[in-house]
Amino acid sequence: MGKSVFGMAAALALPCLLAGPSVAAAKLAPKSAHHHATAAAMAGAAAQPWWTHAVIYEIYPRSFQDSNGDGVGDLNGVTQRLDYLKGLGVDAIWLTPFYPSPNYDFGYDVADYTNVAPEYGTMADWDRLVAEARKRGIRVLVDFVLNHSSSEHPWFQQSRMSRANPKRDWYVWHDPAPDGGPPTNWQSIFGGSAWTLDKATGQYYYHIFLPQQPDLNWRNPGLRKAMQDVMRFWLRHGASGFRLDATPYLLEDPAWPNDPDPKSGAPVGLKPYNSGLPGNHPIMRDLRAIVNSYPGDRILLGESNIATISDLAKVYGVRHDEVNLPMDFLYSGVKTLDAQAFKARIDEAELKLHGEPPVLFFSNHDSSRQWTRFGDGVHNDQIARLTAAMTLTLRGTSLIYYGEELGMGDLSKAVINGLPLSPKRKVADDRDPERTPMQWSGEPKAGFTTGEPWLPVNPVTATYNAQSEVQDPTSLYHWYADLIQLRRTNAALREGAYVALDSGNPKVLAFARKDKAGQGVLVVLNMSDTPQIANISGWQGQTPVFNKVVLARPAIQMPSLGNPTLEPFGVQILSFDPR
Ligand code: GLC
Ligand code: CA
Repeated sequence: MGKSVFGMAAALALPCLLAGPSVAAAKLAPKSAHHHATAAAMAGAAAQPWWTHAVIYEIYPRSFQDSNGDGVGDLNGVTQRLDYLKGLGVDAIWLTPFYPSPNYDFGYDVADYTNVAPEYGTMADWDRLVAEARKRGIRVLVDFVLNHSSSEHPWFQQSRMSRANPKRDWYVWHDPAPDGGPPTNWQSIFGGSAWTLDKATGQYYYHIFLPQQPDLNWRNPGLRKAMQDVMRFWLRHGASGFRLDATPYLLEDPAWPNDPDPKSGAPVGLKPYNSGLPGNHPIMRDLRAIVNSYPGDRILLGESNIATISDLAKVYGVRHDEVNLPMDFLYSGVKTLDAQAFKARIDEAELKLHGEPPVLFFSNHDSSRQWTRFGDGVHNDQIARLTAAMTLTLRGTSLIYYGEELGMGDLSKAVINGLPLSPKRKVADDRDPERTPMQWSGEPKAGFTTGEPWLPVNPVTATYNAQSEVQDPTSLYHWYADLIQLRRTNAALREGAYVALDSGNPKVLAFARKDKAGQGVLVVLNMSDTPQIANISGWQGQTPVFNKVVLARPAIQMPSLGNPTLEPFGVQILSFDPR
């Protein structure tokens, strides 16, 4: 498949999970109960569940830590690095797929839903990872690829054998159009027709992604039950829930209409006939009910791509019983540092999600890293502080992509394009620049492997690496760790309301978070490369009295009341008392 194929996926910025035997799960309960009791005491109110204000760290296992020198990261590697994650302060980790897979889409083409690929380890390694994570208070989420399997999955192998095969209807098969061509003119998100002809049986199968990723037929009760059983398997094996891959695409319009304007330029992944069908809701309700039937407050984190905020609101379920945490692709879709664009996205998430927690992030395995995306080539580190401060001080749940906390950026396309393919990297993918090995140390192989890494290490590891940053209190790593700590310990940041403010300056974003007692923090962010003065208004009632600089970069003295002066890309977080 060509690179442009994956370029589409990257442009779309598309965004899985685990739990276990009830005994193991029961062990989680006392901890969360304790956590909640503390939170409740501090907030003076009933605490909200952990996932409404969590920090979830996304790990691309292939690139995180290699434990056996084959140049490919693995589950034991993740286990080795749990202390680092505990130090950073994350509540949960989401592992992208580690199932057996032919790797046309690096694991998102699953050949066996209830196993670990040998290159990533064994089920025993998985069980140990979960147990060790739990000891450190970290939950583990499995990436559940539910829209499609690999074409090498035994279900598809059977399905394609004959039209009469009992698994035929587990996938989406159609007769050719009268001219012998594809049944409809629909396009795949990865480019080309969404239909591939299977010559042996004379029908086409549907795939919204690669031809090697045939869509499963969620209208078939047998398939539905088999997939629910997959969830139960991982829930028994200690998963705290799932990151659900590509949730909008489970069903297609049963009328199979032709697209009147296939080349309109509208996103291929958000057509009314291929995404967001009403039948998705009962499917998600069933999955949520299964997750809820296990102890320990487990969750669904959704890669729920949508076009508008009201579409996003629906993914939570009108009765709040569908996806706990659908990712907010509207926030992550803001590609330039624009205070007004961010304010619009943040305010709408607060006003139009019926109080549900927004799920905020910028970087992931499908899109350019934020250090690169927002960086201006001069102030990248300071800009990275600013984007982290914004996401981590807003209400809701934040996702961090591995290495984001170190200032990892994309590897240059020039380097990537010059790379030969190899058995460890059978296909080139436009998303490779953001999937390079985690930068553990300043060594050429970054402490990722002793062998040949499957993708090259970004040479900036000489400067941006965990070993040196953990030792340096002024590093980006410590900025993240401090923000995460603040979210845990400050009641207003953890569970408080969002207060929309007017910064009086189009280059400055200002908002506050306030607890029930009226105490809170003001966050002011200068999204420009020149000094700015804010003139903040919009407080309900009187302007509060600021009492302390909680975090600021560059450092500041206590500002004069109400009119903070900010350095280029300056960040100020001030606490206030009620008035
Ligand atoms: C999701 C994943 C992406 C994958 C696609 C197909 O968007 O995040 O990496 O390519 O689904 O499974
Ligand atoms: Ca390995």
